Amino acid sequence: DHISAVNSGSRDIVQVVLENNKNYLVLFGSQTGTAEDYAKKFSKELSSKFNLNVLCADLELYDYDTLSELPNNVLVSIFMSTYGEGDFPDGAIPFETFLTTTGENSLTNLNFSIFGLGNSTYEFYNGAARKVLKYLQSAGGNLLGSIGEGDDATGSTDEDYLTWKESIMAELKNKLHLEEQEHKFKSTFKYETLPEINSHVSLGEPTSKYLPSEPAFTGPFTAAQPFIAPIIKSHELFTSVERNCIHSEFDISSSNISYSTGDHLGIWPSNATEKVQQFLNVFNLNPDTIFNLVSQDKTIKVPFPCPTTVGAVIRHYLEITGPVSRQFFEHLIQFAPNSSIKEKLTKLAKDKDAFQQEITSKYFNLADALLYLSGGSKWESIPWEFLIENIPKLQPRYYSISSSSLSERNTIHVTSVVENTPNPKTGSNIVGVTTNLLRNIQLAQNKQLQSTEINPLPVHYDLNGPRDLFANYKLPVHVRQSTFRLPQNIETPVIMIGPGTGVAPFRGFIRERVAQVEKDNSIKLGKHILFYGCRNEQDYLYQEEWSKYATVLGESFEMNVAFSRVPGTKKVYVQDKLNEMSSDIWDLLKKGAYIYVCGDAGRMAKDVSRTFINILQKGHGINEAEALEMVKALKTAGKYQEDVW
Ligand code: 2AM
Repeated sequence: DHISAVNSGSRDIVQVVLENNKNYLVLFGSQTGTAEDYAKKFSKELSSKFNLNVLCADLELYDYDTLSELPNNVLVSIFMSTYGEGDFPDGAIPFETFLTTTGENSLTNLNFSIFGLGNSTYEFYNGAARKVLKYLQSAGGNLLGSIGEGDDATGSTDEDYLTWKESIMAELKNKLHLEEQEHKFKSTFKYETLPEINSHVSLGEPTSKYLPSEPAFTGPFTAAQPFIAPIIKSHELFTSVERNCIHSEFDISSSNISYSTGDHLGIWPSNATEKVQQFLNVFNLNPDTIFNLVSQDKTIKVPFPCPTTVGAVIRHYLEITGPVSRQFFEHLIQFAPNSSIKEKLTKLAKDKDAFQQEITSKYFNLADALLYLSGGSKWESIPWEFLIENIPKLQPRYYSISSSSLSERNTIHVTSVVENTPNPKTGSNIVGVTTNLLRNIQLAQNKQLQSTEINPLPVHYDLNGPRDLFANYKLPVHVRQSTFRLPQNIETPVIMIGPGTGVAPFRGFIRERVAQVEKDNSIKLGKHILFYGCRNEQDYLYQEEWSKYATVLGESFEMNVAFSRVPGTKKVYVQDKLNEMSSDIWDLLKKGAYIYVCGDAGRMAKDVSRTFINILQKGHGINEAEALEMVKALKTAGKYQEDVW
């Protein structure tokens, strides 16, 4: 299959390098696809600029026991994203095991560079990349240049990457005596158009296993093979007209998917018709063109099931509404329709500040940016093959599951606030792909939208003819395990802090406790105290449900709501409520309470953490540094868990 395997035959990384005459190795450990994107970009540049024969490999797909036999002139670049508490992405855990067990000075042959992808609002910033560096250096590896660290919190990953890349490329050029070639796009794949649609032509199915020409796919369902789940119920949770928050229920009964309360659901979106059409228009593409891609290098897989149509690829596989990278502009220079546009492109590609001001700060997507540059005229000179290879792949979006696997075995609930904010610089709106899709599905399902009013369209079946896996409100999903778990012992007190949609997993937690009590009402629950925050009554999530839970759970459940925007009253946040109740909280902490925080990572989670530091400081009569250490220790012990974004 195109996603799960590369036809390189072996899992022995060195054997694959040697057998395929590769002279450069790029490895990536990716949780959400970002590290993969950068690794591929970097690999492409190495091959087009220096004619290197690069193996770009997902860490997950190979074994590393022979790494000490890698010829020392095959340089290695590692792209590593960090997940959770400074952890490796799931697929890279075996690589971590290899690194921690390899002997001292066992990898003196290794010349490597590292780029990490992280977020500085988290405690263990770029933890995985830093660990790779430490392990490789203690194994005698030789670091080229310095470690690059992309910071998603400041939105600077792209510029962080470019700065690192420039210095590493210069270093490589020197070390390997490379000649730089003129920058010209060379397709990785053999491209051919085909005459007509048939059952082998993919129309956006997540993998070729779903094609009508294949036996029906029955699982197991994973990130590489998601399940096409029907949304059987959805409704609006807010009562205000300006903002929306959608409750969606995915039916997993026919899937053998199981989940645990606290897990995440990955939802694979598709682009709105409006955006697909804008894109088709800018590049003057015909959505019905059927084409095939064939890889000419067996270590490189085609990016989606083929053959397929141009329309299906734009709708289901390309991140067409994401931010544009400055480097992408550099690649576009060769295709500029005329000399004045070429000049503008060149300037923006070279000037970081101008790019920020003219493109990034306006939240332009690729089509917007190009129309802006060309004054509205089309860009027909850009080959479709180039777009396929250079636009990042559409990635699943992850949501904290708001149901309990104990009470909802056959459905998964998701609570998503709809991203739709006015863009003051352009007059249009900044819209989230997945959340707006979920909203449109909700509107269509509840007959609140006529098909003529729907814009962007909620469904997917009209663009490519009658066959449609996604009809009747289905979306591909997969479960991602998290570490966000209620304590095993039901007597352990639980403190939950979840303003906004941060309350999602706590709805799951409380439903879990309700199910446990309903099954056996002699059990004695410890105190479960929830701090919830919203603006006012209009965005109070699941308001009518909480009192029902309280009826079942009695005194063991307590809910505290902080309202931040009630006219005539003072702004209250969850941490203010925590502070108000600090003596009760201190009592619970003394009894070994577990703390759970979900929601905004940037400010809320930090403010809440500071509040706990205060409470511990006062309670124990210790200083701030000691209290901080205590919070860290709680986190390490899994008694202070965060699910923040
Ligand atoms: P505000 O937007 O009115 O300032 C859910 O988004 C709730 O979290 C809202 O009531 C929001 O308040 C509040 N919120 C915003 N920033 C916060 C912070 N730093 N800590 C806690 N709550 C916050």
